[in-house]
Amino acid sequence: MERFVRHRRLRRNGTIRRMVRETVLQTDDLILPLFVAEGEGIKREVPSMPGVYQLSLDHLAEELHEIKQLGIPSVMFFGIPAHKDDVGSEAYREDGIVQQAIRLAKETEPELYVMADTCLCEYTDHGHCGVIRDHDVDNDESLKLLVKTAVSQAKAGADMIAPSNMMDGFVAAIREGLDEAGFEHIPILSYAVKYASAFYGPFRDAADSAPQFGDRKTYQMDPANAREALREARSDVEQGADLLMVKPALNYMDIIRQVRDAFDLPIVAYNVSGEYAMVKAAALNGWIDEQQVVLELLTGLKRAGADMMLTYHAKDVAKWL
Ligand code: PBG
Repeated sequence: MERFVRHRRLRRNGTIRRMVRETVLQTDDLILPLFVAEGEGIKREVPSMPGVYQLSLDHLAEELHEIKQLGIPSVMFFGIPAHKDDVGSEAYREDGIVQQAIRLAKETEPELYVMADTCLCEYTDHGHCGVIRDHDVDNDESLKLLVKTAVSQAKAGADMIAPSNMMDGFVAAIREGLDEAGFEHIPILSYAVKYASAFYGPFRDAADSAPQFGDRKTYQMDPANAREALREARSDVEQGADLLMVKPALNYMDIIRQVRDAFDLPIVAYNVSGEYAMVKAAALNGWIDEQQVVLELLTGLKRAGADMMLTYHAKDVAKWL
C-alpha cells in the first residue's frame, strides 16, 4: 500500500486540469480605467504606463467601441481637466470632462456599464483629494463637494459611483445626495480599503494629480494595517455601500481575502498603475512572459476573493481569453 497521496493524478493532462480548476478568469470580471483629457486631438501615451493613453473626447467613441467589441462590460472614467483650482470645481461642473465623457459613452455604447471615480485630486491645483484647511484636507467641507461631484456624474448618466477620496462618512453623504436627487437606483462602489501606496505613482503622472505638498497619509491607510481595513469596510457597509474595493491589489491579497470572508458584498480589486508598470517594464525587457504573468496575477486576485478587477490590462486580457 502506498504511503503517500498521488496529487499528480489530477494534473496528468490539460483536460483534467481544466475540470478540477477552482478559479476561472472571465472577461466579465474586468473593468477598464480610462483617462479622458479636456482638449482636442489628444492621444497621449502615459510614459510610465505603455499601452495606456490620455484621450480627448474626439478619440473616445472609437476606444469605447473597441472595448465593447472585446466584451469588456465596464469602464471607469478619470478626468484630466484643462483648469484646476483649489476647490476642484471641474469635478462637479455639469459639463466637466468626465460628465461629457459619461454622456458620450451612454450615447454611443449604451450597454457599456459606466463607472465614475468620485474624487477631487485630479481637479485641485494642490493635488489633494479634498479642500485644504490648516495644511490638511478638511473632511466635512470636502464631503459637500464630493456629493456634488457624485450627483453631477449620476445626472450625466453614470451607472455606478465609485468614491475614492477616503474621507470619513463619504458613503453616507453620497448615498443621501444621490437619493435626494432621485438616483436611489445608482449603486456605490466604495473604495473602502485604500492604502497610502507608492504603487499609485504612474497614475499620478497619468492624471497629473500628485499632491503639491505633503502626502495622503492623513486620509489613506497605512500599508502596515489589516484590522483597520475591516473597520473601514464595516463603516462603509453600514453607510450603504453596494460593493467594496480593496486597493492596491497585489501587495494586499491577504486583505482581499479577509474582506471577502467578513462581508458578503461583491469585492473589487484595483490592480493599480504601479503594478501595471512593473509588469510592462519587465515584459518590454523580455524578462517575463507578459500574457502568462498577467493571467496568473488576475487569477490570483480572483482566488483571493475578488469578484471583479479594475485593471489597465483589461483589453489585452479580453483578447487572450
Ligand atoms: C484618486 C485615485 C488614485 C487612484 C485611483 N483613484 C490616486 C491616488 O489616490 O493618489 C490610483 C489608481 C492607480 O494607481 O492606478 N484618488
